[in-house]
Amino acid sequence: MNRYVLNQKINQDLISRLKNDPKVFSSFIQNQNDGTIIYILEKLGRLENGYSKEPLLILLNHENENVRALAIKNLAKLEDIDLFTTFLKYANSDESTSVRREAVSAIGRLRNKKSIPALMNLLKDRDPKVVMQAIRGLLVFSYMGDVKKELVRLLNHPNELIREIVNKEINDTQPQSKVQTKHNEFPEFLKNTVVHGEVQKIIKYVPDESVHLTFTSPPYYNARDYSIYQSYDEYLSFLEEVFREVHRVTKEGRFFILNTSPIIIPRISRQHSSKRYPIPYDIHPLLTKMGWEFIDDIVWVKPEASVKNRNAGFLQHRKPLAYKPNAVTEMLMVYRKKTDKLIDWNIKQYSSEIIKQSKVSEDYETTNVWQIDPTFDKIHTAVFPIELCNRVIKYYSFVGDLIFDPFAGSGTLGRAALNLNRNFFLTEKEAKYINRIKEELNKCNNLFNQQGQPKFVNLDQFILLFRGNI
Ligand SMILES: C[S@@+](CC[C@H](N)C(=O)[O-])C[C@H]1O[C@@H](n2cnc3c(N)ncnc32)[C@H](O)[C@@H]1O
Repeated sequence: MNRYVLNQKINQDLISRLKNDPKVFSSFIQNQNDGTIIYILEKLGRLENGYSKEPLLILLNHENENVRALAIKNLAKLEDIDLFTTFLKYANSDESTSVRREAVSAIGRLRNKKSIPALMNLLKDRDPKVVMQAIRGLLVFSYMGDVKKELVRLLNHPNELIREIVNKEINDTQPQSKVQTKHNEFPEFLKNTVVHGEVQKIIKYVPDESVHLTFTSPPYYNARDYSIYQSYDEYLSFLEEVFREVHRVTKEGRFFILNTSPIIIPRISRQHSSKRYPIPYDIHPLLTKMGWEFIDDIVWVKPEASVKNRNAGFLQHRKPLAYKPNAVTEMLMVYRKKTDKLIDWNIKQYSSEIIKQSKVSEDYETTNVWQIDPTFDKIHTAVFPIELCNRVIKYYSFVGDLIFDPFAGSGTLGRAALNLNRNFFLTEKEAKYINRIKEELNKCNNLFNQQGQPKFVNLDQFILLFRGNI
């Protein structure tokens, strides 16, 4: 039975009757299938201590683990210490791990010192989620020396989430912002500035925590003509150096979105094979290690007709192993600068007026598959489609923010930022693309509404700007 039909059958009146009369509840559930029982258990809402436990206790013997887990969840609402031994029995011995987690959570909700030894014992469980529920229950008593000692021991737990939670709760040693400038502000000299030069040199003059959002597409190893690296290792080390600096200049809890895809270096002759480099997968561990927290992977899908056809051979011979799919996707890897602050904290740094202006009120993409046509440019071989930049900027920044592209190319991100009432900071090493950025920015609807026109400088001039000398 689908939820719409269930909704018709089990209305609020019936739920109230079942809640208030245990006999009616017990006899009603006897004839129901698992789906209906689960639906009722999900809809029970608030339960006060004093509510008869019988129907829920009967359901603890149900063969369906979801029914048992939900029965425990509802019993936990009663916060009744008499249920402690029942919860403990299920925490220790139910065959289903979701029932066990729910039972440990229920013990924690009792907030009763009697439960401390049991919760301490559950800290040794193999299931990290059981351990996390036990930690949650024990944190209420962390002012007690014995409890704190047990929690501190978990700083060496093999599970990374457990270590992180304990570190945050007990030691409070999560990375915190070091700078004093307000979260919604940034150094004026970066505002709408394009620097011609190598990003690894320029970025050294960008103060810590200046940037609200970085969206970039780095060089594709040696697949295109604009950059040459002696080896793949040299290429990865270069990106690592740049993205470590991007991390430094990013404000607390803000986002970095990296557009890459695996690339192919063609074979030198028919006697050799071509080589594929899985760039996104190789960069990812470097990023998390330097303090970027992985948030999402968005797949940018292009029409098949717009990408290189690799199918011609297979289409003819149809021999296994020689299959080559046409690569219609690129990745947008979404990272956040690691912090113990929630996204809500970041949002609260803005005035209600700015939040209102920044709301994404129109239709938006609800999935992580973004179908966007590529843009072809006569000067640059790999430009962002403006729609891609628009989405990233709208979903991951506020009006007035500073948006950075270290590998600006034709500067599409700068144009999108201005159109959306944000500010940009761009770096690009090729002179021909700097000229292209000038043309691109001239296309902006509101270029002349901006306070201060875009600045185009080289490294030396940028250093003077940094020192406040021009
Ligand atoms: C994939 S393209 C970016 C295209 C850009 N997203 C656009 O919309 O036009 C990479 C760009 O990085 C630039 N680049 C490569 N190495 C650089 C470096 N060390 N410093 C600054 N820019 C660099 C290249 O010249 C190229 O324009």
